[in-house]
Amino acid sequence: MPNPTKATIGFIGGTGPEGKGLAVRFATAGHEVVIGSRDETRATEAADAVSKILADVPGAAEVRGALNEGASTDSEIVFLAVPYGGMTASLIQLAPALTDKICVNVIAPLSFAGGIPASAPPEIGSAAEEAANVAPEIRWVAGLHTLSARDLMNPATSLDTDAILCGDDEDAKSTVSDLLSEVPGLRPVDAGPLQSARYLEGATALLLNINKRYKAHASITVAGLHIE
Ligand SMILES: NC(=O)c1ccc[n+]([C@@H]2O[C@H](COP(=O)([O-])OP(=O)(O)OC[C@H]3O[C@@H](n4cnc5c(N)ncnc54)[C@H](OP(=O)(O)O)[C@@H]3O)[C@@H](O)[C@H]2O)c1
Repeated sequence: MPNPTKATIGFIGGTGPEGKGLAVRFATAGHEVVIGSRDETRATEAADAVSKILADVPGAAEVRGALNEGASTDSEIVFLAVPYGGMTASLIQLAPALTDKICVNVIAPLSFAGGIPASAPPEIGSAAEEAANVAPEIRWVAGLHTLSARDLMNPATSLDTDAILCGDDEDAKSTVSDLLSEVPGLRPVDAGPLQSARYLEGATALLLNINKRYKAHASITVAGLHIE
């Protein structure tokens, strides 16, 4: 079981807003981060961009770039942050490097027909359940869909919100929860089994419509929940 206080955190597809945003927050919390990409130059450029954002953040850990394979191999906890369309092919390629590792699936399958963000889940119910079927040798957790990548990326923005996660591997979920509780302003909330990912993925479409209406970067905080 990786110790979240010392874990290296990797991102598959880390060059996008979601990967870079989470990288900012984990590096701020003192975790070494590896930003993965299909292209080494893009990985290095993204890592440099994140390091620049962190230049004035005291105690921020090192952020470096690598191919997705290297990010998977070199990290104890890995985030899968590619678009849904690239999920299965990425997993087929990277599963050997991820066997028995904890992988957090943040993917939300969406459609934008007529310019309207809508949830577009696969037949099984969610991208998270589909990924777990494709690669059952990985210790899956899903979550963080309801955080704003834009807010994550700006270390000056106070998050003050919930990081809702789910999964069937209780130890893996608890490790990720411990990791998230180290990020100032984030409260990890356990939404139960991996099947709950279908609601979290769907909530992304809900938030995108709210953001569009109010020109905001909204996230979800569960009201009335007091966690000891
Ligand atoms: N942005 C948000 O606020 C947000 C919120 C909740 C959840 N999410 C989810 O998080 C994931 C990442 O979001 P994002 O906005 O960062 O996405 P993105 O910018 O569209 O993609 C992230 C990275 O994935 C890689 N990629 C693109 N197409 C790929 C393919 N077909 N196969 C493999 N890799 C591919 C690219 O990196 P390289 O070209 O460098 O390999 C890209 O920079 C998505 O699944 C999204 O649904 C995002």
